[in-house]
Amino acid sequence: MTSFLAARYHRCGRPGEVLEVDQVTVAPPRKHEVTVGMFCAPINPADLNVIEGKYGEARDLPDVPGSEGCGRVVAVGASVDGAWVGRKVLVDGQAWRESGNWPLDRVVAVPDGLAADHAAVLRVNPPTAWLLLHQFAALQPGDWVLQNAATSAVGRAVIEIAHQRGWKTLNVVRRAAAAEELRALGADAVVVDDEDMGAAAKDVLGGAAPRLALNAIGGVSATRLAGLLTSGGTLVTYGAMSKEALKIPNGFLIFRDLIFRGFWLTRWLRAAPPDQVSSLFDQVLRLAASGCFTPRVVAEFPLAEVAAAVARAEEGGGKVLLRIGG
Ligand SMILES: NC(=O)c1ccc[n+]([C@@H]2O[C@H](COP(=O)([O-])OP(=O)(O)OC[C@H]3O[C@@H](n4cnc5c(N)ncnc54)[C@H](OP(=O)(O)O)[C@@H]3O)[C@@H](O)[C@H]2O)c1
Repeated sequence: MTSFLAARYHRCGRPGEVLEVDQVTVAPPRKHEVTVGMFCAPINPADLNVIEGKYGEARDLPDVPGSEGCGRVVAVGASVDGAWVGRKVLVDGQAWRESGNWPLDRVVAVPDGLAADHAAVLRVNPPTAWLLLHQFAALQPGDWVLQNAATSAVGRAVIEIAHQRGWKTLNVVRRAAAAEELRALGADAVVVDDEDMGAAAKDVLGGAAPRLALNAIGGVSATRLAGLLTSGGTLVTYGAMSKEALKIPNGFLIFRDLIFRGFWLTRWLRAAPPDQVSSLFDQVLRLAASGCFTPRVVAEFPLAEVAAAVARAEEGGGKVLLRIGG
């Protein structure tokens, strides 16, 4: 057993108040496990919600947070090919630690040439964007996709993937100043999320009939987005940044038969056959190698300063990265 630092919370609550940096022991890897020494890990909104006890499923406490991160394999279990030692990999959970064990089937090998800081943000948000675009509508070249929270990591990945696939994106943002940055990624249109959004968006769409809208905000923002869908169109909710409930006018169902779906990557990964999971990560890593999904890092903190790091992450504006090891 060797001892390493890990961020942990022993009770749910405000992340900056309940997170501690503890010494934890790491046992040698079991038969099908690898031991990974972590380089870096981002702080995603869901990580904060998990620590608050308001996301998905309850965790056993104490828990190490961190939905994703990048590190290097330093040891392997008896059934794992020794060639894994030294490989850069992505881990999927409990990432805010210097070292830990993960089952081999839950790590993803990172191709040579992809920097750890870039790779560390590829496990959650770009795969979510890929699946949102491919699972809910059979989009044709030239079709419009609508989305709010377009400045988020998921939103930016939606723009880049759609642009590559020949689908147009209408992007709803809180800050008009974000438009230029999103256009540089390939956004076809950017509108501001206010009471004039519907009219501005209809001007852009010019009679087109969008069949897919992606919602990560909820409340009135989602209502406005759904209002732009054609009859029978689908609004997929995958996030709730405003923490406001969906408000769906009865007429959206009665007269337009809109479809309201939800998406959670964790649920998808648990249910998908292994070949679909590897195909998903292959697509994401290939696009990343071509320059997509570059993180917008606004601050970096060492693991020992995790409380300050989460406080900065709560301010928004881009990703905060925990710099853990070299
Ligand atoms: N369901 C899934 O499987 C899944 C997977 C991945 C992510 N998600 C969800 O997707 C969402 C985005 O995650 P991310 O990591 O991409 O986020 P991120 O990069 O940290 O960006 C946060 C986004 O939320 C916006 N925002 C923050 N507070 C807001 C508020 N009160 N009202 C409206 N907008 C607000 C920000 O807008 P500004 O730029 O204007 O600040 C920004 O667009 C989160 O809700 C996350 O939980 C879900």
